[in-house]
Amino acid sequence: MFDSLPSYQPARVARSRTGDVHSLAANESPDAPLADIVAAVTAAADTMNRYPDFGAADLVARLSRMHGVFEDQVALGAGSVALVQMLFQAVADPGAEVLYAWRSFELYPVLADLAGLRSVRVPLVADCHDLPAMADRVTEHTRLVLVCNPNNPTGTLLDGEELRAFVDRVPEHCLIVVDEAYHEYVRRPAARSAISLVGERPNLVVLRTFSKAYGLAGLRVGYLIGAPHVVTQLRKACLPYSLSTVAQAAASSALENRERLMARTDRTAAERTRVRRTLTAAGWQVAPSETNFLWLRTGESSAALGEWCAEHGVAVRVFPGEGVRVSLGSPLDNDAFLASVAAWRAAGGTSVADG
Ligand SMILES: Cc1ncc(COP(=O)(O)O)c(C=O)c1O
Repeated sequence: MFDSLPSYQPARVARSRTGDVHSLAANESPDAPLADIVAAVTAAADTMNRYPDFGAADLVARLSRMHGVFEDQVALGAGSVALVQMLFQAVADPGAEVLYAWRSFELYPVLADLAGLRSVRVPLVADCHDLPAMADRVTEHTRLVLVCNPNNPTGTLLDGEELRAFVDRVPEHCLIVVDEAYHEYVRRPAARSAISLVGERPNLVVLRTFSKAYGLAGLRVGYLIGAPHVVTQLRKACLPYSLSTVAQAAASSALENRERLMARTDRTAAERTRVRRTLTAAGWQVAPSETNFLWLRTGESSAALGEWCAEHGVAVRVFPGEGVRVSLGSPLDNDAFLASVAAWRAAGGTSVADG
């Protein structure tokens, strides 16, 4: 009975000839957790015989203070994907549609199928969301529109004015979900989070995660900022106790240590500039990125290039026929990637830039 269900392909693991493995396929933080966070997790583990705090009061209070919103505007999930799943389930009436750009985060179609929603995909233009075309595709069946900003896997960012104009065109019956999983890596000066629109748009919610810049991918914590009526419905839809005691403690500690963690994103942004410059100077087509990854338009050579990198100990994410997404890791990881693509070229491999 489960044969027809879609499934998500997890990030691959490199099979290195040299024994070195550089994990650049899942957009994780390359840095070890801070000692303070490990200490908070260890202390929380002492109470594992008890259920977690049902409402995650400490974490909700910290997030509401940080974002300048009321506590009833914050919903938590075991990863932001759990929140996407809850949102999809909440709108999945017979005939309901979800609209998103494509290509975007690979889990959107999987979760839409699981919820029984029909997916409507609007192609990216030059690796960016085509918001006017997306607004044109909204119908009375569209219950939810997802905007991944910056977009995974292309790394591109929409500016605030474009997003505002789009939001103005979406009718109120349709929920707008802005997925800002990579927001902490954005460095474009005029960029603004869609959280600034939540107060004026009751049908707009924003997703954030502790999996990327906060370095807690293994503990699964994501959150949503939105209008109280949406948050109330979501809290009802959430599986009770799905946010473990250690996950809550880690996320609270990460917020306490936010400055040190955000300093790490500065290093990632500097590496982004360095790696992109090196690649473009060598003739690769690399989209401008505001995230912790780069998108190489490698077309038909993508699968072979991904295989080559894996054999050289570098795991990247391959989108066959389209491109390769490589996360920005430590300088050592990034140098290993640069060395493996340079070796690919030296061995006669092509990039789309060369045709
Ligand atoms: C756009 C986007 N949203 C959400 C997620 C998942 O985040 P979480 O680990 O919080 O479920 C990812 C992870 O790669 C992502 O790229």
